[in-house]
Amino acid sequence: MDFTWEELSDEERAQAYADWDAGKGLIGGDPRMRPGSHLLPPWGIDQPFFRALALDDTRGNNGTALRALLASDRPLEIEIGFGRGDFLLDRAQRHPERLFIGYETKTKATRLMLARVERLAVESAGEGEMRRDGERSAEDIAPRPSPLAPALWLSDDDARFNLPRVIDDDRVAMFHILFPDPWWKNEHKVRRLFSPPFVDLLAAKLRPGGLLHFKSDVQEYGELVRYLVENHPAFAASDAALASAIGDAVPTHREHWCRRHGKPVWAYYFARR
Ligand SMILES: C[S@@+](CC[C@H](N)C(=O)[O-])C[C@H]1O[C@@H](n2cnc3c(N)ncnc32)[C@H](O)[C@@H]1O
Repeated sequence: MDFTWEELSDEERAQAYADWDAGKGLIGGDPRMRPGSHLLPPWGIDQPFFRALALDDTRGNNGTALRALLASDRPLEIEIGFGRGDFLLDRAQRHPERLFIGYETKTKATRLMLARVERLAVESAGEGEMRRDGERSAEDIAPRPSPLAPALWLSDDDARFNLPRVIDDDRVAMFHILFPDPWWKNEHKVRRLFSPPFVDLLAAKLRPGGLLHFKSDVQEYGELVRYLVENHPAFAASDAALASAIGDAVPTHREHWCRRHGKPVWAYYFARR
């Protein structure tokens, strides 16, 4: 299948901003239109889980706990589209002093990842003891949070909707965007993560010297991303030497698949000026 893109005309650029402002292309639609979007799902209450519009849901401590972590001086790394979560979980375990946030619009994948994070919390506490809340059913028995567990929070919001509402400007040390969906068809282009307003958003949220780490197995998507990012005044040209800032890491599920099938992968590392 062909992945097509061309340098944007002024008109196309203006259209991309208009689509963005109208909330077009958000995965799952615009959360503001969803009934009950100010409430957390029951399975997310008092878990390291958040949605932008449910931060003030007082049935749980989620909003307060996340805001406190965001107000701390822990370096913040964000992965957008973590899928199975192997990369993010490994990274969070290697750097327990940092704060990690993962966005994944597939709620099922987010819940599976939440279960992995909970297991880790129990293991790192060195105990299997469980806490039972009188209000909850047996399925909702929650593991006791551990101070040794990595600070790793998850959201099933579209990152394009959540980031502007939850994360302060200049707060992020690294964005990891690994093998995003190419959205091959022309009529689906609006769902593609990378667009001029999305690059503005990354530039606003990254702190000076912060890193945008991008990988794809679609060469043309890599070229589109390089074009969009390198034409943004806030970013320097991709520099492979910056890979050392990431260090050892486990591959994502997609990257693992590429390795097994001998498929090439294109990697870019853009520093925020
Ligand atoms: C092709 S998969 C790659 C998953 C993983 N990064 C990997 O390399 O195995 C892309 C993932 O991004 C998620 N995704 C797509 N658009 C997103 C968005 N706007 N915000 C958050 N997640 C998104 C999709 O649900 C999907 O799981």
